[in-house]
Amino acid sequence: MLSLLMSMILVVQTIAVMELQVPDQPVVALHGEDVTLNCSFSHSNPFNLSDLSVFWQLTDTKRSVHGYRDGHDQLADQAESFANRTSLFSTQLGTGNASLLLRRVAVADEGSYTCFVRVRDYSIAALLLQVAAPYSKPVVTLEPESNLRPGDEVALTCVAYSGYPVGDVIWQDGSGRNLTDNITTSVVANEEGLFTMTSILTAVLEPNSTYSCRLINPLLGEEGYAFVTITGQNVKFPAVALWVTIGLAVCLLVLLVALAAVCRRKIKESCEEARREAMTLLKS
Ligand SMILES: *[C@@H]1O[C@H](CO)[C@@H](O)[C@H](O)[C@H]1NC(C)=O
Ligand SMILES: *[C@@H]1O[C@H](CO)[C@@H](O)[C@H](O)[C@H]1NC(C)=O
Ligand SMILES: *[C@@H]1O[C@H](CO)[C@@H](O)[C@H](O)[C@H]1NC(C)=O
Ligand SMILES: *[C@@H]1O[C@H](CO)[C@@H](O)[C@H](O)[C@H]1NC(C)=O
Ligand SMILES: *[C@@H]1O[C@H](CO)[C@@H](O)[C@H](O)[C@H]1NC(C)=O
Ligand SMILES: *[C@@H]1O[C@H](CO)[C@@H](O)[C@H](O)[C@H]1NC(C)=O
Ligand SMILES: *[C@@H]1O[C@H](CO)[C@@H](O)[C@H](O)[C@H]1NC(C)=O
Repeated sequence: MLSLLMSMILVVQTIAVMELQVPDQPVVALHGEDVTLNCSFSHSNPFNLSDLSVFWQLTDTKRSVHGYRDGHDQLADQAESFANRTSLFSTQLGTGNASLLLRRVAVADEGSYTCFVRVRDYSIAALLLQVAAPYSKPVVTLEPESNLRPGDEVALTCVAYSGYPVGDVIWQDGSGRNLTDNITTSVVANEEGLFTMTSILTAVLEPNSTYSCRLINPLLGEEGYAFVTITGQNVKFPAVALWVTIGLAVCLLVLLVALAAVCRRKIKESCEEARREAMTLLKS
């Protein structure tokens, strides 16, 4: 008798408890694009839409994102940042689809969203929204640009714009070896929350060296790539050293000529002397 009662209660409970389904993996949305936050509910019997309530809110702050009750949207208490950007799929509500369409996604939208649905019973579930934006193709510049000599210290700057979230920057040399020393990477956000990433590598110059910068957006798995090759074109014979070399060469030449002249005269002189001595000897 008791067990029959228990099982009846269980049956009543399983009928009454509504199940909500939301994505358990974070939903990745592109900055500026629209995204659908899925939330579907089970309903065993057809129900009257005027008995349905759907509320979407920010999990952390409980601020209202979108409300629906008594057969209409209820947006009086909607957070201002979501104004004109949200809607439910009204024709799908009857089939258990309480998903939220969020338009023109911004970086600030990132976070946890709670879906609340009630027909007779109610249920709550939360999902995570992540925002992503692809970085512009990186550009590598060299400082200083010219008059470089092997052994000089140069700064290589790699810049990429308007991405999100923070990317991974990898510097490599021509043979694909990771350069891990003397790298400074900074991140600056613009007013939209998108990042400009600047990575500076300080390196001691070797002739014929290639430096590449690779930027990976962890959410999009996307790679940007740029490189510079420092060739003989950049590495010039410096002007001062050139003149010194020419000067030295000229000096050396003059010295040799003078030496030769001196030698010749010396040889001539010693010959004259020998002849004079011979004459004296002959005379005496
Ligand atoms: C939302 O649900 C639809 C239908 O079940 C599915 O095709 C789509 O991939 C889902 N979107 C996300 C972001 O989970
Ligand atoms: C809800 O309906 C919209 C519009 O048809 C659709 O894009 C979305 O995938 C649906 N979601 C689920 C969970 O079925
Ligand atoms: C749905 O509910 C409204 C208000 O309670 C009622 O006027 C309407 O007849 C109901 N519709 C159905 C199909 O039950
Ligand atoms: C939303 O749209 C209405 C009507 O088009 C407009 O008056 C209002 O300024 C808009 N609100 C925002 C925050 O864009
Ligand atoms: C260089 O770093 C990247 C990312 O950290 C890694 O995937 C790769 O295996 C490294 N390569 C070498 C040669 O260490
Ligand atoms: C890193 O920078 C320091 C100081 O500028 C320099 O002495 C050192 O050689 C650099 N290391 C590498 C691997 O370039
Ligand atoms: C630099 O590279 C060029 C072309 O690959 C090659 O001809 C030259 O010998 C290289 N110079 C040095 C110093 O390695």
